[in-house]
Amino acid sequence: MPRLFRNPSLFLLAVVAVRVAAAARSTAQSPLAPGRAVLNDQDTVPVYSDSQATAGQAVWGKACAECHETKDVTGADFRTKWAGQPVFTLFEQIRTTMPDGNPGSLPKDEYAAALAYILKLNGLTAGATPLATDSVALAGVKLVLPAAPPGL
Ligand code: HEC
Repeated sequence: MPRLFRNPSLFLLAVVAVRVAAAARSTAQSPLAPGRAVLNDQDTVPVYSDSQATAGQAVWGKACAECHETKDVTGADFRTKWAGQPVFTLFEQIRTTMPDGNPGSLPKDEYAAALAYILKLNGLTAGATPLATDSVALAGVKLVLPAAPPGL
């Protein structure tokens, strides 16, 4: 046993910690090519805030995760389907069809937060302003989502 670990249980703890870190690395998904949201087909604009995405992760856990894995909203099918679509279209699609069987049952800001989380998962960069829930703000902003790398 290395001298550093005079206490055997500390040594064991260190071994376990290294194992856990290695396992986390091997199950990590390969990185997605980052998506963007563009205004008027040109300028990249941040469309959600980081704290909103964090709130959205909780919404996802309570209202979406029973049916979805995150790869449902990051995989190649999803990215191919939504690339080039306005952010508002995706927002309305989710709001009017999800949760499946009880659409529209969440407050609008929870749908917006869930979408912020989805955008974050797709590599879009957060900004200072949360994603709005009105069409005026979101209709002119389109998603640019590169197809995911193979294997996702
Ligand atoms: C009870 C199960 C269920 C729950 C809960 C649920 N979904 Fe779904 N979702 C589905 C099914 C089934 C589909 C595919 C069929 C369809 O498109 O209607 C789907 C499709 C989707 C799609 C379209 C994917 C694509 O490729 O375009 C999105 C986005 C989505 N769900 C987001 C959400 C979000 C966000 C939540 C939580 C607020 C949620 N879903 C909750 C069952 C569910």
